Amino acid sequence: MTNAALQENAPLPDPYSLPLESINLSDPYLYSQNRWGDYFRRVRDEDPVHYQKESPFGPFWSITRFEDIVAVDTNHEVFSSEPFIMIGDPDDSIPVSNFISMDPPKHDEQRAAVQSVVAPRNLAAMEDLIRERIGAILDNLPVDRSFDWVSSVSMELTSQMLATIFDFPYEERHKLVYWSDMATGAPELSGGNASQEERFAALHDMVNSFGALWEQKSASRLAGNPIGFDLISLMESNEDTRDMMTRPAEFMGNLALLIVGGNDTTRNSISGSVLAMNQFPKEFDKLRANPKLIPNMVSEIIRWQTPLAHMRRVATCDTELGGKLIKKGDKVVMWYISGNRDERVIENPDQVIIDRAKARHHLSFGFGIHRCMGNRLGEMQLRITWEEILKRFDDIKVMEEPERVHSNFVFGYSSMQVKLTPKA
Ligand code: HEM
Repeated sequence: MTNAALQENAPLPDPYSLPLESINLSDPYLYSQNRWGDYFRRVRDEDPVHYQKESPFGPFWSITRFEDIVAVDTNHEVFSSEPFIMIGDPDDSIPVSNFISMDPPKHDEQRAAVQSVVAPRNLAAMEDLIRERIGAILDNLPVDRSFDWVSSVSMELTSQMLATIFDFPYEERHKLVYWSDMATGAPELSGGNASQEERFAALHDMVNSFGALWEQKSASRLAGNPIGFDLISLMESNEDTRDMMTRPAEFMGNLALLIVGGNDTTRNSISGSVLAMNQFPKEFDKLRANPKLIPNMVSEIIRWQTPLAHMRRVATCDTELGGKLIKKGDKVVMWYISGNRDERVIENPDQVIIDRAKARHHLSFGFGIHRCMGNRLGEMQLRITWEEILKRFDDIKVMEEPERVHSNFVFGYSSMQVKLTPKA
């Protein structure tokens, strides 16, 4: 018996009832059924560098312990990010290429070109606008009935933030979220449900919209207007990226990267924070009593949620890890979601402890040259969200088990019914 044999949404078996070699950590049902915890615990304890001979994504190694993940993530010469960083391989009919899937020197040049959009100076400039927009969302929520927190708050907030950093037409901001879902939702990439036809249409629409925005900004610059501080303007005015429009696969890929990077991650951390405060009500009490704990709580939530479950690498040479021989060309999957629950490094890892010491020592942003470019922006959004929540509400009660995303890459929620109690 193997959990990989599952076709429909039948309950998954107890991992301890399965032969170790048949445990398939890429099964998206592990995540949509929220059953991944015991599966990873067993693999961490009994076979931390675990070989999967067969899967819908081909053979791959699973790296499940914290320290082994850091070792892989910080060694980009042996563990390459090319050609792609999700467990599956992209379909050639939708060519994409972006700097998260590149090794130096190209990675470094392209990252440097857009990094300043999330530099501390720019973040400080964005803070007031983000606070104002979060406040407006929270002020318009119903208080007399339950509603879906994911669509009303988490998605709304992240789409507004993305529209801000891209200077994308505000009234069309929901498209950004949709494109992000389409970029990661293919069955062959992550076990998701998006059809190839729908993805193709969405990504086509994305390229056309951004192409038009690019032209518009370029015309404005040529007319002598000052260069904006949004992502498109930065890419246009940088030597290494200004001709990206002539390389459509890179143009599409880097846009998709920035949209996905800033979307699913923050969205699911915001939803996860509400769920965590329900599952650990004493921590919510602590937070209400001492809002100064918010920044530490934000780090703790990002660890506990781990909104991107994995990143993939490819071995560039034969190498050894945890006593196993990894061969040149093998796929190596770093399961951040498992490393963040590794008892060897994190005490009581399944508990949310908002005043945990060294809460920022987690894997959710990765390590090494690809460490998340937007980590401070993501943290800032969560911090402001909770500062504004505590000003307005005494409680956010999760009314039923949330629905979870069917993916082995994005770990998050598709809906979560909540009811608010306004401040007395
Ligand atoms: C890379 C997670 C927010 C943009 C990454 C990586 C992870 C990650 C795991 C790969 C790290 C590695 O391979 O070592 C997260 C989480 C976030 C978040 C958990 C929020 C809670 C954001 C935001 C942006 C962003 C708001 C928007 C600008 C990026 C980019 C990369 C990246 C551009 C590629 C960096 C590179 O390859 O050099 N992120 N991210 N992320 N993230 Fe984030």
